[in-house]
Amino acid sequence: MPKSLAARVYRGTPKNLLRLARLLRAGELVAVPTETVYGLAANALDSRACRAIFAAKGRPQTDPLIVHIGALHDLEAIAEPNAAALKLAKKFWPGPLTLVLPKTPVVPAVVSAGLPSVAVRMPSHPLFRRLIRLARVPLAAPSANPFGYVSPTTAEHVRHGLGRKIRHILDGGPARIGLESTIIDLRDPERPRLLRPGAITRAQLERALGRRVAWPRRPGRGKTRTEAQLAPGMLLRHYSPQTPVVVHRQMSLRRVRAAAKHEAWILFAKPAGRPARNIFWFDARGDQRRVARSLFATLRRLDDGRFTRIHVEFARGNGLAEAINDRLRRAAAR
Ligand code: TXA
Ligand code: MG
Repeated sequence: MPKSLAARVYRGTPKNLLRLARLLRAGELVAVPTETVYGLAANALDSRACRAIFAAKGRPQTDPLIVHIGALHDLEAIAEPNAAALKLAKKFWPGPLTLVLPKTPVVPAVVSAGLPSVAVRMPSHPLFRRLIRLARVPLAAPSANPFGYVSPTTAEHVRHGLGRKIRHILDGGPARIGLESTIIDLRDPERPRLLRPGAITRAQLERALGRRVAWPRRPGRGKTRTEAQLAPGMLLRHYSPQTPVVVHRQMSLRRVRAAAKHEAWILFAKPAGRPARNIFWFDARGDQRRVARSLFATLRRLDDGRFTRIHVEFARGNGLAEAINDRLRRAAAR
């Protein structure tokens, strides 16, 4: 592979951050660590740079990007916040929450996929925050994976998927949360709608807003691509490994133990005894946060052709279970 086509992985030294910030200002793409998943960033005010994001990912231009800001006072330059939005921003930013609001004219049409709204979030990862501040522009960034594949939670995942398409990857260690941000549509503050569940749960949003938050287009069976594009981000087949994934309401250990060895089974916690080589678990103790953190990495690790199928069980309980199950459903969609 010619050197110019191989991505360079940067450590987050002050010198590297300055260099990457300059490259971003000059219109280049930089893969960045965030607390949720790695993103592929460009200057959000530069439509040519943002078009390059779509090209690198093979992403259809109908799927809008999230704009990342470094400070609350940067919100008004790109969006028209209402009181409900400011309430959530003050409570949950910096963090894994994205707000969909009416956009201002400075946001290029390519970023919002031609919609009159824009998705905004203030990330909490310290290196990404430093980079935004140094770049002095908002940064548009979708997850840094080829379109449709599982989101990356390490710099190595990014290199594996996009290493020949991009030149700069900032390594900020494994993502702390491991699932993409919660997205809430607040264009109409009277009718907040959850567009994507994440680490900030629906219950937390409802408590902060003092009203119900609907989850209307919860991807169910039979949602097609066309239908999804009417409501951006509701694309069902998303985050999918190559190996077919089957999600079960409940898995009995006896059935798992009796299963064929060319199929992989992922449990939430480590089973007692010595497990067979086709049995895996997201976390030794099944702790939900740690399950979320290792979900995508585990799917990727088992997606190397060793197994003909990957079986997973739905998460139970509240909190992160809604987001975990949403990603499992999407991974299983064909
Ligand atoms: O955690 C995250 O959100 C990560 C990190 C990098 O910040 N980003 C991410 O971006 O997951 P991406 O592109 O994979 O998902 C962005 C989604 C779109 O697919 C769409 O669903 C939604 O954000 N979105 C963006 N703009 C929107 C808009 N104006 N209206 C509705 N949904 C929008
Ligand atoms: Mg994505």
